[in-house]
Amino acid sequence: MNKPPQTSAAPPRHVAIIMDGNGRWAARRGLPRAAGHREGGKAVRRTIEAAIEHGVEWLTLFAFSSENWHRPQSEVSDLTRLLRRYLRSELKELEQGGIKLRVIGERDRFGPRLRAELAAAEERTRNNTKFNLVIALSYGSRAELVTAARRVAEAARAGQLDPATLDEASFAGYLATSGMPDPDLVIRTSGEQRLSNFLLWQAAYAELIFVEALWPDFGAAHFAAALADYAGRERRFGVRPTTDTAEPGGAHH
Ligand code: FPP
Repeated sequence: MNKPPQTSAAPPRHVAIIMDGNGRWAARRGLPRAAGHREGGKAVRRTIEAAIEHGVEWLTLFAFSSENWHRPQSEVSDLTRLLRRYLRSELKELEQGGIKLRVIGERDRFGPRLRAELAAAEERTRNNTKFNLVIALSYGSRAELVTAARRVAEAARAGQLDPATLDEASFAGYLATSGMPDPDLVIRTSGEQRLSNFLLWQAAYAELIFVEALWPDFGAAHFAAALADYAGRERRFGVRPTTDTAEPGGAHH
């Protein structure tokens, strides 16, 4: 008798999202790009609510890539201003809603005001345990991997690490995402089908879902549809069961 394929009945524990399409959303309305980013901020709030409702534990949002620094200075300042405003207006809700905020990426490239507000927001939500919100800011996977490699080399040079003992689990501890579960599902909006240097190590076995909607239009219904799509996927983690009598639980990592 053939076993049905193993599909994921449980919701993804960690969803990561590449929020794309703010600029196009604004352009279609004849509005400045900043208006698209502002509207994108509202989609962030809707998505956090939807993720909590569906029992997701971790949500990572790609808000600003290492490459975004090459955008015009005015757009970079619009984005950083929006982030500061977001932190200021939402912090109380994050705090009271049991949401723990963590920021990954090269935060030192931002100015002192945003850095201070990020640190304060992380500090104030440090003991929250209901939900984890991770914002990737000035983040790029290759830079993250190079930083990790440098730290490994430094630890080895200092005699704190025997290179022969380094394995995938211990290497992951040198990444910005240390201690976080890998994303089970990566969603990208706006119809683009690329990872764009986002969580390349961590998303090794993630399901990928590409949504046509532009990020400012993304909402609870899109999130639910992505989770339904995910639930129907057969996750094998690189292992294909060869016989019907394969041990349950054998198809991992
Ligand atoms: C991609 O659209 C979006 C961004 C570069 C910024 C995302 C930022 C937000 C949604 C602001 C709020 C974020 C948080 C975490 C509060 P794009 O500008 O690349 O759009 P385009 O591809 O249509 O030009």
